[in-house]
Amino acid sequence: MATIWNGQWRGLRLGVELRALERDGGSTLRVGSPEGDREWLRFDCFAKNPHWHLDPSGHNVVQPLDERGDVVGEVFEQIRSGGVPLLERAGAPPSLIERFAQAEGADPPTLLRDAERAMRHRPAILDELDIRTLRSRRSEKWHTYPADILPAWVAEMDFSVAAPIQAELRRFTESGDVGYPIRLADTGLPEVFCDRMRERFDWSPEPERVEILSEVVQGMYLAIEAYSEPGQGIAVQTPIYPPFLASVRDTKRRLVENRMRVDGDRIEFDFDALANAVDTNTRLLFFCNPHNPSGRVFSREELERIAVIAIEHDLIVVSDEIHGDLLHDGREHIPLATLGIEIAKRTVTLTSASKAFNTPGLRCAIAHFGDAALQRRFNTVLPRHVRGGIGLFGLYASIAAWRWAQPWLDEVRPFLEANRDFAEQALAERIPEIRFHRPEATYLAWLDCRALECTGSPAAHFMRHGQVALSEGRSFGEGWEGYVRLNFATSRAILTEVIDRMAKALGR
Ligand SMILES: Cc1ncc(COP(=O)(O)O)c(C=O)c1O
Repeated sequence: MATIWNGQWRGLRLGVELRALERDGGSTLRVGSPEGDREWLRFDCFAKNPHWHLDPSGHNVVQPLDERGDVVGEVFEQIRSGGVPLLERAGAPPSLIERFAQAEGADPPTLLRDAERAMRHRPAILDELDIRTLRSRRSEKWHTYPADILPAWVAEMDFSVAAPIQAELRRFTESGDVGYPIRLADTGLPEVFCDRMRERFDWSPEPERVEILSEVVQGMYLAIEAYSEPGQGIAVQTPIYPPFLASVRDTKRRLVENRMRVDGDRIEFDFDALANAVDTNTRLLFFCNPHNPSGRVFSREELERIAVIAIEHDLIVVSDEIHGDLLHDGREHIPLATLGIEIAKRTVTLTSASKAFNTPGLRCAIAHFGDAALQRRFNTVLPRHVRGGIGLFGLYASIAAWRWAQPWLDEVRPFLEANRDFAEQALAERIPEIRFHRPEATYLAWLDCRALECTGSPAAHFMRHGQVALSEGRSFGEGWEGYVRLNFATSRAILTEVIDRMAKALGR
């Protein structure tokens, strides 16, 4: 039994405990006197036979909870709206009940939310991954190559998803709730997204300026169609997540390439080159922050320089911030749209819960527009139906992730940071010719393998001689053929095996 959260709410002591980790265990909410000598209510939100106790340390009356519903949600609804009658029934002293009634609204609203997050949390399973289970996955990472190849390429994590997301998906399948989704605006996702941005990044977007998409990449294509014509320029910093390049190519726009500068171990934005490359026929600036594949997190000063270039050249910016929840070493993500009204008005922010919370197969993403006209143009470029619908799983998994799954991410992120450090050190020892561009965010490492002088691409070499799949440098832009991208979001044992195989491919 482990207490995972404690707090004081309206003069009462609240404590959240994890009672057991097996399927019939669950979490418990204790509500008692501030001194800790009496307990008035206890909610045992177990998977099987959930129930609650009135006056557990006195006459202890046990009542069932309905396990078919959202048990934790119902408990918090009860204590939020019916605290006084519950305490009366539990025999709490009138002075305590009066203090409780008077304290309505006195505590920050985040307090009960944090208690509820703790109740929904289960420890993330990070290091005990079973390779056979992973190999049975049908996702791109594990299903593309034969079983003798160890995959460390596409950006999926090997960890299972957070408990609140699992609970949400289970509820849909167990109750057969797979009918048509309600109107997107009525799902609550735009509001949850805005709350999340406020809470995490001190950014206050408006729900009306939000569009729900099936994927971030869809947003890139729609933005190109909405804001430019064939032949017009789109500025992209390479190396870059390959769909940035494919979207420009597929829509017959002109790639205005802005190569990042490699400065020792750092990869830097080349602002002067960008300003020089942009001409009057360039309409859009595609920006990725945190940056995939380099893992760079751009500083406020760097973002301001981007904003100045965009404003001076009258560019619309598509800012892909999908990795914004995966920053390391205490860094903080700064959404581009928070830099000021001028840049916000010309920014389309694309993001999704799917990267940080590992649900890319569920297909759901957000586009936020800093300006109503920008949004109108985006929405009129194609009939709505051409965008396709958004599945219930993706919608409600995103809500569960952003609303409830932060404690899971608080365990995952430091694990990723430690894996990054491990990979850096292990590679330095085993294959010192590889230059490791230490990522400041993401679970992807951009490795300069040029000094290995492989015949053919380094990724092909590692695949052929080490049976390990890494992402090909050349797919991130011209001139990056000597690089590979390594995905380190896996257990330490699997990451060790990935690095062993890389070393083996080089005869070490
Ligand atoms: C920078 C970046 N943008 C977008 C995506 C993909 O997002 P989606 O699957 O929603 O299109 C990824 C996936 O790795 C990514 O790294």
